[in-house]
Amino acid sequence: MTVTPPGAEPTEGARAWNQQAIARLEREAARSADTHLLHLSFAGFPGIDFYFKDEAAHASGSLKHRLARSLYLYALCNGRLREGQAVVDASSGSTAISEAWFAGLLGLSFTAVMPACTSPAKIRDVRALGGHCDLVANPARVHARALEHAAGGACHLDQFGLAERATDWRGNNNIAESIVGQMRLEAYPEPRWIVCGAGTGGTSATIGRYLRYRRLGTRMCVAEPRGGAYAEGWRRRDRDARATRPTLIEGIGRPAVEPGFLFEIADRVCEIDDAASISAAWLLESLLGRRYGGSSGTNLIACLQLAAEMRERAETGSIVTLLCDRGERYAETLFDADWLGAHGIALGPWRDTLRLAIDSGEWKPPEDP
Ligand SMILES: Cc1ncc(COP(=O)(O)O)c(C=O)c1O
Repeated sequence: MTVTPPGAEPTEGARAWNQQAIARLEREAARSADTHLLHLSFAGFPGIDFYFKDEAAHASGSLKHRLARSLYLYALCNGRLREGQAVVDASSGSTAISEAWFAGLLGLSFTAVMPACTSPAKIRDVRALGGHCDLVANPARVHARALEHAAGGACHLDQFGLAERATDWRGNNNIAESIVGQMRLEAYPEPRWIVCGAGTGGTSATIGRYLRYRRLGTRMCVAEPRGGAYAEGWRRRDRDARATRPTLIEGIGRPAVEPGFLFEIADRVCEIDDAASISAAWLLESLLGRRYGGSSGTNLIACLQLAAEMRERAETGSIVTLLCDRGERYAETLFDADWLGAHGIALGPWRDTLRLAIDSGEWKPPEDP
């Protein structure tokens, strides 16, 4: 192994390793299948088709598989990642798992800086893939801590700084191009809405840009935990907005507006109570026979709200959203009755609201959720 120190002229060996690493990523992409777009319809919403892009089906279990591949490629193509160099990133967990997975593919050592309150199963997954976890008590400190690792020589993949630009927004089978292609034979191929959550803002940036690039009329709705920084920031177009409350939904609901979140391309931001998101994650299991994480539930709630509005206006059409990660990661948190009780979450009232919605199309949130 030849390690090129920073600042030194790269050797032939360093360039050869760079080429081999990029070829490995290309082969991994070629071996990977696209994720399914699952279709559901509900008695309460005749003429409205719902589609769920199953991003949990990626080899590393979440939509962050796409991002991690792009971030490694971006670092390699920018000459920032060398053979033998340690890799670091800050994450709420899903990105860390995917980045640890790709570090294994490239033979690199990876450290995830994560909030200490991250679901235990995610921490176990990073470690099982050979990654190290640097757990930080204050979630707002993860970025600063990742920068400390980078100052010590690690390559900072920097999902929060780079997600929005590392993804090829015009195509290359990005998530938006994949959805639009998979919808082509459906009854309503041009969705009225695509609903997604926002963490780095990378997914929403890719979708929003691609819809405009393809000149589609589809609107994009960001589903945001209530009180998250993006909701307030988007309303006031204020990049200094801060979350007014924490959320139990991992991956979305940022405390502050990240650089990759673009206000202009979100047509709407729906704020969703945590209990609603979690209840919807449980509902997804009964609808699809598989568990998905809390942010997938957040997305489902926004879809039902939009569908109820469409129904009131007697509109037909399709709504597409994302199943972001595997629910098994939350077995000890969102899917554990004791944990929910300890966090003051009662699912019953929202369960009734959701049943009513899918059976009759009425949207009646609990009076005292
Ligand atoms: C688990 C998880 N992480 C992150 C995100 C946000 O993605 P991005 O970082 O691209 O904004 C989502 C989006 O719904 C998510 O569900």
